[in-house]
Amino acid sequence: MTGSPLGELSTDPAFDASLAASLDEVETELASAVVSDYPFVTETSRHLVEAGGKRFRPLLTVLASHFGPQPGNSEVIKSAVVVELTHLATLYHDDVMDEAELRRGAPSANSRWNNTVAILTGDFLFARASDILADLGPEAVRIQARTFERLCTGQIRESVGPDDGVDPVKHHLQVLADKTGSLIAAAGRFGTMMAGADEATVEILSRFGEAIGVAFQLADDIVDITSDAEQSGKLPGTDLREGVPTLATLIARGSDDPKDEVLIGYLSGPIPDDRQHAEALTLLRAHPALASAREEARRWADDARRTLEPLPSGDAKRALEALCDYVVNRTG
Ligand code: IPE
Ligand code: IPE
Ligand code: MG
Ligand code: MG
Repeated sequence: MTGSPLGELSTDPAFDASLAASLDEVETELASAVVSDYPFVTETSRHLVEAGGKRFRPLLTVLASHFGPQPGNSEVIKSAVVVELTHLATLYHDDVMDEAELRRGAPSANSRWNNTVAILTGDFLFARASDILADLGPEAVRIQARTFERLCTGQIRESVGPDDGVDPVKHHLQVLADKTGSLIAAAGRFGTMMAGADEATVEILSRFGEAIGVAFQLADDIVDITSDAEQSGKLPGTDLREGVPTLATLIARGSDDPKDEVLIGYLSGPIPDDRQHAEALTLLRAHPALASAREEARRWADDARRTLEPLPSGDAKRALEALCDYVVNRTG
């Protein structure tokens, strides 16, 4: 399964080493943040931390800190840990909602234990994130609260679907900005803020995070269709199986080509039957809607890249630009 995107951003060896050192600090603090007095909770929390993951959000926090006078300071590291803990907690909950069996190449907590354990472990991780946030001050607490509000609202909006008369694609993009863009925007905001950057720079990194976050989720939804479990660490076609709309399926549903009738029939709800699911996945993989969804991901990544224009050039800016290519080209 996929590792950190760090290796793809390489510019200068000294800069790479400084990023790697900061991310090592994040790992150490993350490991201690999930230790509970009750060993079973430590075990259920460690489960996904140790299973891996790309650590995309802490990487963005650390990179963003290089636009302030104190890159990689202890508050930057703490805020990166908060963002990854929040992300982890949402994964525990998301896998319950999606009935997903595999996460980060390991059985999801809901399948290894059960839904109750997965939900409460997610809550435990939120509690630990809040504990660390308290050290970062009231403004950080508020940013986290508002981010989390958007994330939850986005997930609910996704499960309810668009109101009558609302364009489903517009609704979908709003969902992606809220459920995924919000936390990645917070990752950029925290990094610059904790490193002491000025307000204008903090805003730029937050806007960058929001746009690259939408690109990241659009790409994730394509990976769900095109990659195998070996690459993504998740079972392919989960969105399709659960009947969760993604940009590619929304575009395909709009087709009036008679050849698309079978596929469109499948896209009207969940597909619990294995044979039908495999057929729907094959049809979708061959459909031009996939290329259109990829183009949309590319547009959001290009928007993210444009937000960086006012920033000074250097290793950090080059790395963020490389991250724009990474998000849309990734296969896992
Ligand atoms: C998965 O996030 C959920 C999405 C928002 C797409 P990641 O793709 O960052 O998951 P990990 O952390 O690498 O496992
Ligand atoms: C999850 O979206 C977004 C979150 C905010 C957790 P997905 O349902 O697409 O994420 P995966 O594919 O399970 O990682
Ligand atoms: Mg999911
Ligand atoms: Mg997904």
